[in-house]
Amino acid sequence: MKWFADLCQCLKNVACRTKQEAQLLQHTQLQNRITELELYIYHTTAAQSFDYDADSLRVWNKNVDFMSDPRFRQAYFRGMDSGHQIGRAPGSHDDIHIEWRVHMLLWAASHAAHLEGDFVECGVNTGIFSLAICDYLDFNKTGKSFFLFDTFEGIPVEQMSEKEKAGKAEFNKTCFPECFEQAKANFQPYPSAILVRGKVPDTLTQVDIPKVAFLSIDLNIATPERLALCFFWDKLVSGAVIVLDDYGWKGYEEQKTALDDFARGKGVMIATLPTGQGLLLKP
Ligand SMILES: C[S@@+](CC[C@H](N)C(=O)[O-])C[C@H]1O[C@@H](n2cnc3c(N)ncnc32)[C@H](O)[C@@H]1O
Repeated sequence: MKWFADLCQCLKNVACRTKQEAQLLQHTQLQNRITELELYIYHTTAAQSFDYDADSLRVWNKNVDFMSDPRFRQAYFRGMDSGHQIGRAPGSHDDIHIEWRVHMLLWAASHAAHLEGDFVECGVNTGIFSLAICDYLDFNKTGKSFFLFDTFEGIPVEQMSEKEKAGKAEFNKTCFPECFEQAKANFQPYPSAILVRGKVPDTLTQVDIPKVAFLSIDLNIATPERLALCFFWDKLVSGAVIVLDDYGWKGYEEQKTALDDFARGKGVMIATLPTGQGLLLKP
């Protein structure tokens, strides 16, 4: 920000000269004006100087060309326009700006498309992530199935710890209302996307999934996340990618602890991404 400091200094110099030349001007008034100007310049230019500034992630001096890739943008908005109420009011079409998270998922799914096995998501809602993946991969051409597990009516409160109840019960009501019909309609163009309605882990045995190449877990609470990871571990093929949406976020420490314990038991390590996601590869 050297240019910014230089600019401020330059403004101050002009102000000093003005002060000497026009003695009638009130010094304090002038100083106040300069401070206002400095703040204005700081706020307008600082916002522009971040390459990415959303989803609690500020990034500068980085190449974010994925953001303008037409294929990415089409897939991203396919998910964003799924009719969800996460971080926005019912009926709203606002973009909640989770591009970098979706970028990571699309990368993971693109890798997994080369492996043997199917795709699984636990915690689907209206399908922001999974619809983006279906669009990006042209899923009907992959020859794979995408198993999509959700109650489609929110997090089961009885699975929450007392701490989770305190932090998550409220947004459970507002963000995750009944959405099964919406999800069914959203995935209608993808016949091999199979919606499995009910509580994880109870529903996991309702479908036969011998091999898994891609696993996304986004249930927002610890117990079913750990059970889901445990259930799928032996089914995950070598090189399979697991994306844990809540892993690195503040307020989700119970999930992190539970998932880290599981990973430690398997001798593997979960990477914390700056997006808040956890990333794990099956050895
Ligand atoms: C944050 S949302 C998932 C968002 C989704 N990944 C997307 O891309 O739009 C969390 C979802 O997990 C579901 N959920 C939480 N606990 C569950 C459980 N034990 N069994 C089934 N679904 C559950 C909720 O119904 C909710 O739809």
